[in-house]
Amino acid sequence: MNNIVWHHHKITKKNRIEQLQQSPCVLWFTGLSGSGKSTLAGALEEKLFSMGYHVYLLDGDNVRHGLCKDLGFSDQDRVENIRRIGEVSKLMVDAGMIVLAAFISPFRQDRQIVRQLVDDQEFIEIHVNTPLEVCEQRDPKGLYKKARRGEIKNFTGIDSVYEQPENPELVIETHRQPFEKSVTQIVTYLMERGVLNK
Ligand code: ADX
Repeated sequence: MNNIVWHHHKITKKNRIEQLQQSPCVLWFTGLSGSGKSTLAGALEEKLFSMGYHVYLLDGDNVRHGLCKDLGFSDQDRVENIRRIGEVSKLMVDAGMIVLAAFISPFRQDRQIVRQLVDDQEFIEIHVNTPLEVCEQRDPKGLYKKARRGEIKNFTGIDSVYEQPENPELVIETHRQPFEKSVTQIVTYLMERGVLNK
């Protein structure tokens, strides 16, 4: 970082927040593959968009087609994946957006790093706590089957670790309640917390 000086531009985060009339934050969905992160985040994005919020969904599978297409699933690559998404989320929060991020993000420390990248209260960790057996049974992309056959290595929950969040802001149990209930649970929480005020 030698010879690089931070430039303070005239338009600030505060200006953008005033213009957009919302409290920017990161809604960070973490959980196993097939836990329902993307589906939930997608439904929530739709809901918040229709309520007039400026939202943007960053989704693991999609981001890995572009920004992170050079990364695989080794521990090291996953760390880098989440680091990049964290930085992008930070920029988007600075831009005033409500960011929805849906990534397995298996390591506690990496999620903690992203939490610390944004201001206090701006990081909301949502643990989509669907048990491995249920995810494996759903197997929407047929990846668990491949992982069990040894055709995919380092698959989360099979031969790669998932570290459960210790103090997430929210825990969603998609296997215990109807889908709509999970979406409502998040919206209610965001209202109580004052993130949603329109
Ligand atoms: S993360 O671990 O780096 O956070 P990310 O959320 O970006 O993962 O990508 C996960 C998606 O990649 C899964 O939903 C699945 O579709 C696909 N995938 C392919 N290989 C693997 C693997 N070895 N482990 C987990 N997911 C994989």
